[in-house]
Amino acid sequence: MHKINITQKITENHHWVLPVFENDLSQFEFKKWTGLPQPYEFKAEIGEINTLIHPGFEKKRWLLGLGKRNGAEQLIQPFRKVIYQNLKVGGKMVVKADLFTEEQLEVCMIGLLMSGYQIKAIKKDKQESEIKTIEIYAPQSFAKKILQKAVTIAKACFSAMDLVNMPSNYKTPQYLSEYVKSAGQEQGFDVRVIKGAALLKNKLHALHEVGKGSENEPAFIIMEYKAAKKPVAKIGLVGKGITFDTGGISLKNPTNMHYMKSDMAGAAAVIGVMQAAAELKLPIHLIGIVPAAENAVGSKAYRPGDIIQSYSGKTIEVIDTDAEGRLVLADGLAYMTKNYSPDYLIDLATLTGSCIATLGYTAAGLFTQNEELASELYQSGRITGEKNWRLPLWDDYKSQMQSDMADIKNLSSLPVAGAITAAKFLEAFTENHSAWAHLDIAGVSFTDSEYLKSRSATAYGVRLLTHWMLGKC
Ligand code: BES
Ligand code: ZN
Ligand code: ZN
Repeated sequence: MHKINITQKITENHHWVLPVFENDLSQFEFKKWTGLPQPYEFKAEIGEINTLIHPGFEKKRWLLGLGKRNGAEQLIQPFRKVIYQNLKVGGKMVVKADLFTEEQLEVCMIGLLMSGYQIKAIKKDKQESEIKTIEIYAPQSFAKKILQKAVTIAKACFSAMDLVNMPSNYKTPQYLSEYVKSAGQEQGFDVRVIKGAALLKNKLHALHEVGKGSENEPAFIIMEYKAAKKPVAKIGLVGKGITFDTGGISLKNPTNMHYMKSDMAGAAAVIGVMQAAAELKLPIHLIGIVPAAENAVGSKAYRPGDIIQSYSGKTIEVIDTDAEGRLVLADGLAYMTKNYSPDYLIDLATLTGSCIATLGYTAAGLFTQNEELASELYQSGRITGEKNWRLPLWDDYKSQMQSDMADIKNLSSLPVAGAITAAKFLEAFTENHSAWAHLDIAGVSFTDSEYLKSRSATAYGVRLLTHWMLGKC
């Protein structure tokens, strides 16, 4: 991670990044900050970068467009990009942030920190990281406090990204358990893992069924953080932790199957949020549950047509073993409601291809019957740039999940509205929780980026939920 310092001095002899909002373009003192008149082609559109080379200045000046000034929306990418594109430039970079509000300064810092993310390569010829010091010109009194918060959030994002990018032969459910245990010790939250014979003793049948085809045994990971002073809310988070999804006996098409290492991005987000909340010492009671399993093919694997038990007591007819995420979440959600009764219950899951077909790679699908929670999560999405868009949970879709032989089946009778029918399935395991929300993050957690050749992790959910929780504090 880049080192960031805050400075209150204007030092001429450094590179400077000069962010400009569209609305402020006419007032921006180009002469003062660049020694040059306003370049006519620079419109300050979001993400626009204009490199200025002035004979009188040894160092560079970059104008960075931030678009319309409306809060802090979408500002992470531009800051991440301007540093990332210029990582090779020697010397110190100073970012002018003297006019920023608290909110804008925070996203600016997170973006600058993100530009230093390096994927953990497993190869002989590794690129050495270039340690860069970035200075932020921010005389505002709140700058130091905001920097601390930004570093904590960026660190949590880096953890989530590392976990999602890690290959599945490394990140077994067992590995995830150990990772979470040491994170808990470091950041200050409790961790308990149910695995092996204890899974069945604890009636976590659905998780056991999904994981039993793999020699990497499933694990049910429970994390708990409780503020020392009276918590303002009890929040339960559940993250889908499929460490690899072959589809099981209902085998997936091999094209792009390697992307299915990212099928634990919901779990990674929950782990990241736990880390951030504990390190920020938020005045809440936070429980995170990760049902982790590998959905493998083998003689021990569960089959299409099987009828399985679940933690809730409801039986499930398995029509398709590739609809495994909802099965492990069924146990996660039911365990959470029965044992913790949280005020808010939120799950994150790379659940359906249908959600990608609906919203693409831009927004997560948001499902909740709670109007207030819907609008809070939507707003946090807009502010953090981790966008989500609500889809319905009407009972019209419920009948498609009815089974003749079991209480419910795991695949809809119709090949339409797959993201919605998946959410209806999950709803059956929430005991009608009045503040439950489901985020289908299949399209937004592992995407193309300008930073790498292949798809990579985004840590979607970490900033969204941290921001949402901060709103409760
Ligand atoms: N992990 C997948 C969903 C997914 C697909 C995530 C593409 C990210 C990218 C999930 O377990 C799955 O296989 N879903 C099936 C459900 C179907 C069998 C009802 C799907 O969406 O095709
Ligand atoms: Zn699947
Ligand atoms: Zn899956």
